[in-house]
Amino acid sequence: MTNTAKVDVLLGLQWGDEGKGKIVDVLAPKYPVIARFQGGPNAGHTLEFENKKYVLHTIPSGIFHQNAVNIIGNGVVIDPVTLQLEISKTGLSFEHIYKSLLISRKAHLILPSHRLLDFAMEQIKGEAKIGSTLKGIGPAYTDKYARAGLRIGDIEFPTFIENYEKLKKNHIQQAEYLNCKLNDFVVDNGSFSDYEKRWFDSIEYLKKLQFIDSEVYVNALLEKGMPILAEGAQGSLLDVDFGSYPFVTSSNTVAAGACSGLGIAPSKVGKVYGIFKAYCTRVGSGPFPTELFDEVGQKMRDIGREYGSTTGRPRRCGWLDLVALKYAVVLNGVTDLIMTKSDVLSSFETLKICTSYIFNGKEIDFIPYRIEEKMLQPVYKVVPGWLNDITNCRDYNDLPANLKEYVRFIEEFVNVPVKIISTGPDRTEIIYK
Ligand code: IMP
Repeated sequence: MTNTAKVDVLLGLQWGDEGKGKIVDVLAPKYPVIARFQGGPNAGHTLEFENKKYVLHTIPSGIFHQNAVNIIGNGVVIDPVTLQLEISKTGLSFEHIYKSLLISRKAHLILPSHRLLDFAMEQIKGEAKIGSTLKGIGPAYTDKYARAGLRIGDIEFPTFIENYEKLKKNHIQQAEYLNCKLNDFVVDNGSFSDYEKRWFDSIEYLKKLQFIDSEVYVNALLEKGMPILAEGAQGSLLDVDFGSYPFVTSSNTVAAGACSGLGIAPSKVGKVYGIFKAYCTRVGSGPFPTELFDEVGQKMRDIGREYGSTTGRPRRCGWLDLVALKYAVVLNGVTDLIMTKSDVLSSFETLKICTSYIFNGKEIDFIPYRIEEKMLQPVYKVVPGWLNDITNCRDYNDLPANLKEYVRFIEEFVNVPVKIISTGPDRTEIIYK
């Protein structure tokens, strides 16, 4: 009993794309087990090492470490086509994948017709569209909560095809009601039936991998004293309950999601690593109080290579928002902060940090229930930039004084220490404080 290990949770504190993949990859050697707990192929976790770049969507970011076990938890939604493609792009041998990748039987499947529905639902929203990645995430989670979904474990039963056909028929009817015809729907540059064929081929491929009752497995590992790193996807401000609803994703991206998405009790959670960028970005629609529409925002986008790793869409860029960051820190009970992309701010003479908002003529220090952009203006503290190339720094003491002051100000504001600073995309570009 006394040897029971903990689950440390790592998650994004903004609107996703905080650099979680790289940080998991860096921390992975400390953890024998890495587990994804929510989201699906809407995520894009980028890892760079030995001059190569990999983007993972569903696979946990510990896959490149020899002895790590990687679990896709029950809270994740899986598109078999994306998963198979992603596996092949890692370049890893089938033996390695078989041994290192375990998939929860309770994870839900994204059907080709979920993608059809995602598209149909975004189409009818017109101006109010969410900017979904159109990977079928929302409809797959909808079926999960409507108790109608298909799960990985169902693949092993003879009723699988029959249940698949029933669900597909239902989706096609819903899509037609939304004025979207199956024959007009293009998915991954091909027809629905081409994609469906690939989907069934990938189901056959998945059958060769290990399916597990992950909640039992995970708790047994903890009992044996093996610590687990739970890897979140998207970001806290995209959480279905606490994000800028309805411009959110369809899962709980906050730390509580790790408990339900892996089957672990809250008392088993140890550290909560909260990752944030030194500035802010967002893809898709929805409120973004500190967004920059000028050349400063464009400069951040260019230097930070802020283009979506899943969709290639340009990311909206803006100054660091400490009101939003503090909200996320509290919701997640963050114990350790990790700041990424500090190097991107190196060529800005002055920087702005949002410390409150003016809302309906009053200064407030919280995110209001409904943000109408015109009604909300950020209040900024202006600070000097550091104008030094920091990509080769490996010691906190060697960082420019203005960057250290930037970090100190954040720590004091949110009342949690920054423990790691990432200074570039590569595995080696990291500073422990
Ligand atoms: P969905 O989850 O694909 O339906 O997208 C819902 C919203 O979340 C959209 O604004 C997406 O751009 C955003 N989103 C989903 N996944 C990610 C992610 O991994 N990083 C950043 N934004 C995301």
